[in-house]
Amino acid sequence: LFAGETEFVKGVVAMDGLPPADRLEVCFAGRSNVGKSTLINALTGTKALARASNTPGRTQEINFFTAGDDHYLVDLPGYGYANAPLAVVEKWQRLLKQYLSGRQTLRRAFVLVDARHGIKKVDDEIMSLLDSSAVAFQVVLTKADKVKEVEREKVIDQVRGALAKHPAAYPEIVVTSSEKGWGIPTLRAII
Ligand code: GTP
Ligand code: MG
Repeated sequence: LFAGETEFVKGVVAMDGLPPADRLEVCFAGRSNVGKSTLINALTGTKALARASNTPGRTQEINFFTAGDDHYLVDLPGYGYANAPLAVVEKWQRLLKQYLSGRQTLRRAFVLVDARHGIKKVDDEIMSLLDSSAVAFQVVLTKADKVKEVEREKVIDQVRGALAKHPAAYPEIVVTSSEKGWGIPTLRAII
């Protein structure tokens, strides 16, 4: 499915720049720095196809990748704090919301949540947007290598509680570490 066939298609800065809605897509949403771009690289077995960095606000466009012939993987800018000028941040936040609520071929949104932090208010707001747009979403915990098991279980409980209030949420939570490769085969199978 993924090996050797993933390519960057384009970076989009406005809704009218989106590629034709001619195939299904899944997207990766989440707070800045949660590990969206890194997860796409792990899933596709590439090192730097999606550009990642330690600076929140690295991804500032909606980046489309092909994964096989028949669907797109979509790397989104983060929400919440970003290390970029406010006007720029506001512009891409608006685009992000338009995309999440108005893309016909968006089959599933993965909402990435840091395994150390759990669901924050901004995550909850994005999830409500997905509910009202009838976009099915699934939570992926990231950076699981950075927490001890007890801590992780606490976060999973918190996430489970929060998801109960969101009709568009899948109940299954996928625990991942792009660093260690944990959960990557599971997520590939889901996609
Ligand atoms: P924005 O584009 O700014 O919204 O960030 P992003 O969500 O795309 O995060 P990105 O993939 O750029 O990763 C942010 C930082 O987290 C980088 O320094 C990554 O190396 C690190 N990181 C990502 N995933 C993991 C992981 O599973 N484990 C660990 N330890 N670090 C990770
Ligand atoms: Mg990114």
